[in-house]
Amino acid sequence: MPEAKKKRFTTELLRWYALSGRHDLPWQKPDWYARIVSEVMLQQTQVVTVLPRYEAFMSAFPRPEDLAHASEDEVMSLWAGLGYYSRARNLQKAIRVIVDEKAGRCPESAEALAELPGIGPSTAGAVASFVFGERAVMADGNAQRVLSRVFLIEGNATEKRFKEAVWACAESLLPESRDMADYTQALMDLGALVCRRRPDCRCCPVADICDANQKGVQTAFPGKKPKRERPVRHAAALFAFEDDRIWLQKREGRGVWKGLWAVPVLESENPEPNVGELLTRCGIRREDVRLQSQLGDLTHDFTHYRLIIHPVMIELRPGTLPSDAWLFTFEETADIGLPTPIKTLLQLICGSLRL
Ligand code: ADE
Repeated sequence: MPEAKKKRFTTELLRWYALSGRHDLPWQKPDWYARIVSEVMLQQTQVVTVLPRYEAFMSAFPRPEDLAHASEDEVMSLWAGLGYYSRARNLQKAIRVIVDEKAGRCPESAEALAELPGIGPSTAGAVASFVFGERAVMADGNAQRVLSRVFLIEGNATEKRFKEAVWACAESLLPESRDMADYTQALMDLGALVCRRRPDCRCCPVADICDANQKGVQTAFPGKKPKRERPVRHAAALFAFEDDRIWLQKREGRGVWKGLWAVPVLESENPEPNVGELLTRCGIRREDVRLQSQLGDLTHDFTHYRLIIHPVMIELRPGTLPSDAWLFTFEETADIGLPTPIKTLLQLICGSLRL
């Protein structure tokens, strides 16, 4: 790759960033705690979605020690809606490592940051460049899109060869250290604001050196990920009300919703919900069910499978549930972490019941 092109890329990108990049995102400060929290939230989630969640999270846990010593419930309730909950658990583990094992001192290199739970090499590079000005590589989805187009790197993000080629390219472009925080943000911003999936090449500072633009093949880069057939799973979900309160259980053990609160669910191969089995598993006798109705299904896509949720609503005779069962009014459910599809169904049901 010609040196002159690399130099121009970096220079033009920095010049563009000064005028057109984002400079006032709340996490844009050399504070390792703010940077780690925001970068983990921004993995797989867009800035507009993250902004309000970030503010709420930082108000609840303003210092690393606050997060390190928070309960799982508090952390999960503030993460609810961002999805990929293992990120929240790993984030808390990472901050605990820093607070409890490193006397509150954050590792100061990308290499050392990448050893923390949930911090991959690209996130580590971003944090190291933002906070410590290290000449570290950040090659997230935005950077992959920009670089694969400008330098015509073939392949798609599921391929090791592609990721390695982008990483090597990104490494070869790093500017002299002074501007590292700006450079990393600039690369993210160009991808997010201009070099989007459908790019706006008229506004691009590197359009004239972009190979994909010259050839008119921008939208073919990066290559499409092969379509994965998501297996379909079914789950009957029991929305059980005693008076005006809904029965919720804290999800234990393994699974995507671990640590969140949800209604009892019974997974099955079968699209027809087995209400009898669901009730039996929940220790509810038919004669204690005063009313039962079935509502429309809700489809929720996880990374590895599609879940079709079949909600079943029942009203129980008061006193049916064991005394240690947790019952919540609809209002109270706003303060606890619920999986998004369960929250959606609960809103629909409580809305129609005017609770
Ligand atoms: N995406 C990932 N990290 C980001 C950041 N720091 N700012 C904006 N978008 C991002």
